[in-house]
Amino acid sequence: MLTEEEEKMLENEATRDCMKIVVALAKVFDAEKLVKISSAHISGVSYDNIGDEGLDWLRTIKGKVAVRTTLNPAGMDLDRWEEMGIGEDFYRKQMEIIEIFKNLGVEITLTCTPYYILEPKFGEHLAWAESSAVVYANSIIGARTNRESGISALASAITGRTPYYGLHVKENRAPTVVVKASGDLSVVGYKAGLELPGEIPYFLFDRRVSLDELKLLSASLAATGNIAMFHAEGITPEWRDFEKPSETIEIEGKIEKGCEAQLIAIGCPHCSKEELEEILRLLGGRRVKRELWIFTSRKIAEKSGEIIRKIEELGAKVFKDTCMVVSPATERFECVMVNSGKALEYLPKKRGIEVAFGNLKSCIEAAVN
Ligand code: F3S
Repeated sequence: MLTEEEEKMLENEATRDCMKIVVALAKVFDAEKLVKISSAHISGVSYDNIGDEGLDWLRTIKGKVAVRTTLNPAGMDLDRWEEMGIGEDFYRKQMEIIEIFKNLGVEITLTCTPYYILEPKFGEHLAWAESSAVVYANSIIGARTNRESGISALASAITGRTPYYGLHVKENRAPTVVVKASGDLSVVGYKAGLELPGEIPYFLFDRRVSLDELKLLSASLAATGNIAMFHAEGITPEWRDFEKPSETIEIEGKIEKGCEAQLIAIGCPHCSKEELEEILRLLGGRRVKRELWIFTSRKIAEKSGEIIRKIEELGAKVFKDTCMVVSPATERFECVMVNSGKALEYLPKKRGIEVAFGNLKSCIEAAVN
């Protein structure tokens, strides 16, 4: 099953341990071969998630990545961690994790939106570990990746290979159920994930939808349903390639979730430049009366300096490198309002925080009133 080059990787000290992981996974999933990947994306970066055990394991990894490799958000903004209320000990451990990845040749992108950076092409094989980005890459771009773990993505980054199974194989990418969807797509994804775990939905929308809405849909589907791919009629690149499923369900993107929020948190997944512009427009020059935290990547932040300056002049904070779920900083709030189905699912589970839900407009209104 292995090529000569891959066999050599099993002997080379710098690649041996990682190649063993890739080969073991290939056996578990009955993959006939390994495929070359064009990029990897690693999760499990926040010290809050991986703890001392994860840090100890990372210290043992040798070698250099063989392909472009990006990194998921950390537990803090690397520059504004004190402002977020992060302590010195956490800061030091987090920086050590980042230093290890840097030495492996990983790009310190610290975002769950690697598609804005790596820009994978249709049909490329990837080994990505952030579940929301996996859905985005498979569905919206037509690249091919399974839902990797932080460990398997790192092993693939070092070897440049991933086992050929699951969504790398065209036949496994066929839709399994038609979903007629209306309303907020973040909520549609949240509900579809709960109702159709592990399926590949084929969406029919009742209106034109934006890329940012599809991004929110991707994150929700992954969070509640372990879904790794969807099709959307007339929109996604492979929607015509398979037979349309016979089963149809309807989902309305509407949900009632309320509590008195002390923090409004936007940017799950990390905001695009267009979303930052939209937030500024919705603020309409009004100062915020409650905490409004917005999360984006350092790459988008660099491109959006003027917009961010104007948003922050109104009292909101735009953090990069981290998010409301992977950072312990949100834990000091009892109720947080979000526009993301993924944050709606994870904030109570991972941080024990009550969550209120609204679309972007309602979130901004809540922040200024
Ligand atoms: Fe990204 Fe954090 Fe949400 S990593 S998808 S902003 S939970």
